[in-house]
Amino acid sequence: MTSGVTPALAVVEAWLGGRRPSVALVLGSGLGGLADRLDGADHLPYGRIPGFPGTTLPGHAGELVAGMLGGRQVLCQSGRFHAYEGHGQATVILPSRLFAALGIGQVILTNAAGGIRRTFAPGTLMCVADQVNLTWANPLAGALVPGDTRFPDMSAPFDAELIALAHRVAGAGGVALEDGVYGGVMGPSYETPAEVRMLERLGADAVGMSTIAEVIALRARGLRCLGLSLITNRAAGLSLTPLSHADVMTTARAAGAALGRLVEGVVASLHAREAGTL
Ligand code: HPA
Repeated sequence: MTSGVTPALAVVEAWLGGRRPSVALVLGSGLGGLADRLDGADHLPYGRIPGFPGTTLPGHAGELVAGMLGGRQVLCQSGRFHAYEGHGQATVILPSRLFAALGIGQVILTNAAGGIRRTFAPGTLMCVADQVNLTWANPLAGALVPGDTRFPDMSAPFDAELIALAHRVAGAGGVALEDGVYGGVMGPSYETPAEVRMLERLGADAVGMSTIAEVIALRARGLRCLGLSLITNRAAGLSLTPLSHADVMTTARAAGAALGRLVEGVVASLHAREAGTL
């Protein structure tokens, strides 16, 4: 546990009461609708959590939501803190450290991303197989925070079992789910076409401005991660349309339902697996 997360932990534990979520869901831009799938949803605005700034972005609600999904108690982070908003790395990963301190073992991170692989049209769902950190920052840089590993192994940032589960659930539901590498950049400007060509050469299939730091922080505490990207647009230079956050959000909202069903299915399967019925 860290001193940074302790005041937030006290408030969130008191709010959760007897509820013990074992899965956290991080909802990306325009994907907050996933929280509407929760039964008995209970909302805790960030303004009531010490150390949590308000979110500055349209499409990011700024609250934790606890409730039941797929037969299981989950905790949703509806609204991220991005480095491009001026937040330091410690703030970007504060919710991740909170999940660890709450004893949550698995985190499903969703995001909106630009498609680099030529077959990734808007609406494509991509399971993140690996990530490339091109943000020029690492949330673990600095004095070692108690509870973190100094040199965490990153040879499997995304959990193989969770990836296999996501593919099984997608297959059973007739949902097309691709695998790909997420390239994480700082933003907030979208990439230039030359940068997209560079990212492609570096092995990225999709590009976005979140997720990277959270996964590093979560792996430093041993939590298992599943990353699901919704491709909201073709990356810069791959289509004739200029990029806009409004279009990203429109596509995220339109295609978000498929992602919501997939996440619910994964959570239900996790539940069944742990209950011994899968
Ligand atoms: N680039 C970076 N981040 C994004 C994009 C993009 O094209 N689309 C959605 N998030």
